[in-house]
Amino acid sequence: MSAPPLVPPLKCQGIKTKLVEEIRRLAQMQNFERWVEPFCGSCVVPLNVQPKRALLCDSNVHIIRLYQEIQQGKLTPAIVKAFLTDEGEKLRTTGEDYYYTVRERFNSSPSSLDFLFLNRSCFNGVMRFNRYGKFNVPYGHKPERFAQAYVTKIVNQVRRIGEVLATHDWTFVAQDFRKTLADAKAGDLIYADPPYAGRHVDYFNSWSEADEMELASLLKALPCEFILSTWHSNEFRTNTLIERNWSDSRFHLLTREHFYHVGSTEDLRHPMIEALITSFPVAAVQRESMEAEQFAFFEQPTREYSVGRATARLPTR
Ligand SMILES: C[S@@+](CC[C@H](N)C(=O)[O-])C[C@H]1O[C@@H](n2cnc3c(N)ncnc32)[C@H](O)[C@@H]1O
Repeated sequence: MSAPPLVPPLKCQGIKTKLVEEIRRLAQMQNFERWVEPFCGSCVVPLNVQPKRALLCDSNVHIIRLYQEIQQGKLTPAIVKAFLTDEGEKLRTTGEDYYYTVRERFNSSPSSLDFLFLNRSCFNGVMRFNRYGKFNVPYGHKPERFAQAYVTKIVNQVRRIGEVLATHDWTFVAQDFRKTLADAKAGDLIYADPPYAGRHVDYFNSWSEADEMELASLLKALPCEFILSTWHSNEFRTNTLIERNWSDSRFHLLTREHFYHVGSTEDLRHPMIEALITSFPVAAVQRESMEAEQFAFFEQPTREYSVGRATARLPTR
């Protein structure tokens, strides 16, 4: 059985921790010079693929700033430890009000440390900004959030990605996906993981069907290969854009179940069949072990949407 994925210090909705193994296997099938992600989010995918060279972009300036500061040595494990220990103590003694003090401070003068604090103590670990670009996730109601063991965990995550950044040639840029894709060259491998249309509508994360269609046409015109993440179906609907955009036999579809945690209540947490679409043929990749949460990952003809062994289960909570 393979080792558990490396976990980055940031959490975000749509994080692909459960798919990194499959994405890594797909990446290994390609001989590429540079890994390019137009929607890098938490950076869990590059952290696990560990390409020598990478261009990692996102429209969210706060994500990009945090990774740039770790890369530049401005945000070290020691600084993070001291900050989260002090601020965590204030949260423990003052409670909810202190969370909102930090949120206000971040919204008037954004800093990576406050961003990390909010990301790890807000409700459900989501990242959401209002239409003016202000972080607006409420308090997660865990005053003991930054207990020593949790701070150590985050500090180790910062240390780990810091070590990777010190030994790899990665560039972080805050920009729109159109600009990132315009920079793509022969020899790149693109991993595109856009927001899922209609799911999260906020300042950095709004995504329409028009965006999805534009992304599809830009990917089709690339001078290099790509892997696209999207959703395939849940118990209520099927993503009709897959059929519309990717039914050409040049493209290949893989599917797998994934719990998609976006809501506060159980009815918002439906199992989602995730899809990966590649511009290159993929041999069937079967997981070695079929444990409770592991599902076959298999190539399917693009027009047949049977979901194989995937079964619908709801998370307990
Ligand atoms: C599904 S998340 C990516 C998750 C990431 N693969 C992970 O595993 O953490 C989508 C990301 O796209 C970014 N985004 C949304 N609209 C964008 C745009 N127009 N250009 C670039 N990035 C965008 C969001 O800020 C968000 O981080």
